[in-house]
Amino acid sequence: MEFILVTTQAQPHVALIQLNRPKELNALNLQLMGELRDALKALDEDDAVRVIIITGNERAFAAGADIKQMAGKTAIDMLNIDQFSTWDQIRKTKKPIIAAVSGFALGGGCELAMTCDMIVASETAQFGQPEIKIGVMPGAGGTQRLTKAIGKAKAMEMVLTGRFMSAAEAEKHGLINRVVPVELYLEEAFKLASEIAQMSPVAAKLAKEAVNRSFETNLDEGLYFERKNFYLCFASEDQTEGMNAFVEKRKPEFKGR
Ligand code: HXC
Repeated sequence: MEFILVTTQAQPHVALIQLNRPKELNALNLQLMGELRDALKALDEDDAVRVIIITGNERAFAAGADIKQMAGKTAIDMLNIDQFSTWDQIRKTKKPIIAAVSGFALGGGCELAMTCDMIVASETAQFGQPEIKIGVMPGAGGTQRLTKAIGKAKAMEMVLTGRFMSAAEAEKHGLINRVVPVELYLEEAFKLASEIAQMSPVAAKLAKEAVNRSFETNLDEGLYFERKNFYLCFASEDQTEGMNAFVEKRKPEFKGR
């Protein structure tokens, strides 16, 4: 891995992926995205990992797709490169992913943070879809996920003007989970990850899948889907352990089975 750093057990059951092209503000070139896809797949298959954090550095989570790599491309080049199949694979990660964001989260960087399940940000974080300023538009989910997160009016303004949104504003409009001082954002992400890592990993995967389904379907279908996953929880040892532990007034020990 050249452009990301992976720590499988950064804390018990919590893996950390750090985007690592600091000089280019973590611009997401094709190689970095491929490495990220491969790392997430491996962590998704690793039974010891229950939650994944993706972070950058203090100055930038990621300043977008690599403009220098895209600049000379034609539409057919882009079609043949098919970078979005990589993004689709990332989106299919079953374990919960937290983005720990400081500094710039722009274009593809903002889209990557929104592809994660939760966002913890530092006070210095800035979110934006500035693609319009370079003659294009969001391509990795920005027009869809941003609109669903903050509503049409705000999303339209950000996409059409390229204006950045501060962490405080992003929290106010429901784009992110919480904002903390810059020296604490990673710690805060780990706290959230550890809390989730103590839950049943089986239930966490099924619950993530059901929440995400709400974006893709109507209420009837969504409730049907939720019910199936709820029933499936009852096939797990974790359900027996969780409910027995409650009755016996002790802490459950979940095994992910
Ligand atoms: C390639 C980038 C880059 C990017 C920054 N750099 N963003 N390189 N692609 N997206 C590089 C700069 O060229 C520069 O390298 C170095 O990182 C530092 O950046 P500066 O511009 O010197 O820093 P600063 O003045 O602090 O400005 C920071 C910034 C600005 C506001 C974030 O860099 C910026 O506007 N970047 C582009 C943001 C953007 O438009 N993102 C959307 C991309 S399109 P050198 O070697 O020149 O010094 C996109 C589409 C996604 O994301 C859909 C498909 C996945």
